[in-house]
Amino acid sequence: MMKIIVVVGATGNLGGKIVNALLAKNVEVRAIVRLETDIKKIQELEQKGVKVIQVDTSIVSEISKNCIRAHCMVSALAGLKETVIDAQKIFLDAAVEAKVQRFIPSDYSSDFTNLRVGENRNLDFRREFHKHLDKASIKATTIFNGPFMDLLTTDMPLILFKQKRILCWGNANQILEFTTTYNVAEFTAAAAIDDDTPRYLRIAGDKLTCNDFVQLLSELTTKKYKIFRPGGIGLLNFLIKMIRFFSPSENELYPAWQGMQYMRDLMEGRIIFQKYDNDRYSNIKWTSVEEYLVNEKVNLK
Ligand SMILES: NC(=O)c1ccc[n+]([C@@H]2O[C@H](COP(=O)([O-])OP(=O)(O)OC[C@H]3O[C@@H](n4cnc5c(N)ncnc54)[C@H](OP(=O)(O)O)[C@@H]3O)[C@@H](O)[C@H]2O)c1
Repeated sequence: MMKIIVVVGATGNLGGKIVNALLAKNVEVRAIVRLETDIKKIQELEQKGVKVIQVDTSIVSEISKNCIRAHCMVSALAGLKETVIDAQKIFLDAAVEAKVQRFIPSDYSSDFTNLRVGENRNLDFRREFHKHLDKASIKATTIFNGPFMDLLTTDMPLILFKQKRILCWGNANQILEFTTTYNVAEFTAAAAIDDDTPRYLRIAGDKLTCNDFVQLLSELTTKKYKIFRPGGIGLLNFLIKMIRFFSPSENELYPAWQGMQYMRDLMEGRIIFQKYDNDRYSNIKWTSVEEYLVNEKVNLK
C-alpha cells in the first residue's frame, strides 16, 4: 500500500521543497493548511499533485480525521511560540489521535542538545516543544542540519562580499556546518518514509572554518580575503544583550539579536559534532559551499 505522508507548513520555503522531494517518491502527499492560508499557495500545491486539506487548525479532531493511516507527519512550520509550541502541539496531538506512526518536528537547525537554555530564543521554543513531543506516544525524529547554506548569500553576515572579509567572532578554526535547503528537504523526505529512524539525525552538506572561508573565497574570486574579527564571544554576547534591550522587536521571528544568537551558537564551540547521517540514504548528492557559491552565480569577481 502507498505510504501517506502528511506535511504541515507545506506552503513555506522548506515545506515546499520537502513536498517536491516527497512527490518524487512513490507516496501520497497530504498538506494540511490553515483557513487563512493564501489560496494561490494552495492551488500551486494541488497542481503538483498534493492533496490539500484546509481545516480549522485549532481543532485537533479536524486535523486528525485527515491523518488516518498516515505513516509520518512532517512539520515545517515557522514562527514564534504560538506556532512552534502551540500550533505544532495541536498537530502533534492530532497525529497521536490518528495513530500516525512518526513525527518529524520543525527543528532543521544546528544541534541544540548541548547549547545553553535561555541563550537562543528560537531554539528554546523548539526545546520546549520537545518536552511535549518526548512524552507523546509517537516516534519522533529531529533533523539537525546547521544553518541553511542558502543564508550565506542572503541574511547571514559571514561572507562580507563587498569588503572581502569573513566576519569571525571567536576562533577562526571553529568548524561551522552548512546544508542547502534542497539537501535538507531531500533528506527529510527520505527520513519521512523510512520505517526506523532514531530520535536524532544529523547532516551537514559541508563543514568549514572561518579560515577555510578565507581560502575558498580568495580562490574563487582571485581577490585576497581576510578575517574580520571585531572581538570574541564575550563582546558578541554583550552586543546581543544591548541590541535586545534597546531594540527588542520580540514579535519578529528574526530580529537582529536573534541572528546574532545563532551566530554566537555557531562560533562559541558548544555544538558537538558527532556522527553524521549523510550516508543513510544513498541517492543524495550533497552540495558543498564551493558548489553552492559557484551555482548561485554570486558576484565573485
Ligand atoms: N537552519 C537554518 O538556517 C534555518 C533557516 C530558516 C528556517 N529554518 C527552519 O526551517 C523550518 C521552516 O522554515 P521556513 O523558513 O521554510 O518557513 P516559512 O517559509 O516561513 O513557512 C512557514 C510555514 O508555516 C506555516 N505556518 C506558520 N504559522 C502557522 C500556524 N500558526 N499554523 C499553521 N501553519 C503555520 C505557514 O503557513 P501559511 O502559508 O498558512 O502562512 C508556512 O507554511 C523552521 O523550523 C525554521 O526555523 C532553519
